[in-house]
Amino acid sequence: MSNSLLGVAQVKEASITNHFSALPSYDQRAWAREALHARYEDRLVDKFGYRQLVTYVPNKSEPIHNWFDYKEGFSKKLVEGLLVEFDARPDELVLDPFCGCGTTPLTCQQLGYPAVGVDILEVAVFAAQVKLRTDYEPHLMESKINQLLATPFREPESTFSDIRIIPRAFTPQAMQDILFLKEAILSEPEESIRDFLLLGLVSILEEVSCTSKDGQFLRLVKRKSLR
Ligand SMILES: C[S@@+](CC[C@H](N)C(=O)[O-])C[C@H]1O[C@@H](n2cnc3c(N)ncnc32)[C@H](O)[C@@H]1O
Repeated sequence: MSNSLLGVAQVKEASITNHFSALPSYDQRAWAREALHARYEDRLVDKFGYRQLVTYVPNKSEPIHNWFDYKEGFSKKLVEGLLVEFDARPDELVLDPFCGCGTTPLTCQQLGYPAVGVDILEVAVFAAQVKLRTDYEPHLMESKINQLLATPFREPESTFSDIRIIPRAFTPQAMQDILFLKEAILSEPEESIRDFLLLGLVSILEEVSCTSKDGQFLRLVKRKSLR
């Protein structure tokens, strides 16, 4: 890792489903949002120039940022713009307490600012950690990818967790392929290579499923398969 080592702290989800009834209701959340808004109203400024950047879309053409399509994410260009606007110095620590899959820490790392990111979503934290590593050897990674893709299919030993949406989201063939690839990846002894390949697999799950994320919901779409 470089000097501008960026930590991504993880706030564990703490089995949120078991505490559903303890979560605030919609009305309570709306009330809290309004109270916050009122408290900080004098500091809020509309910046319409950032409108196109408060989205993940511009990251699709940014190397490393585009390793994981995170619809809730913001763009590298937004972070770059804010660093300039706030006149951030390279010795100041940048904090993104809701960093998603790491756009802020990664942009800061690329520009030489120290930064810390936090997110509650485990998969986002994993994606951020994989993207923030700087010790990849491109030739080695390429040969590992080719090796994985050339591995002959064998029946997976593992199964999916018993989650109701899974059999609706994937064809039986796609499920077998995902498990086979996952097992092949997990047999890789080198952690950085393993995590890199695992993120690659996770990043294509939506593409090979018959679902598409639509706001907070999953929409059923035409089935696709890996083979
Ligand atoms: C709009 S996205 C963040 C985008 C990110 N700042 C970027 O630049 O790509 C909001 C994030 O907040 C996270 N989040 C929601 N509630 C949280 C909490 N209580 N603690 C930490 N992260 C949380 C979500 O998982 C989501 O990744």
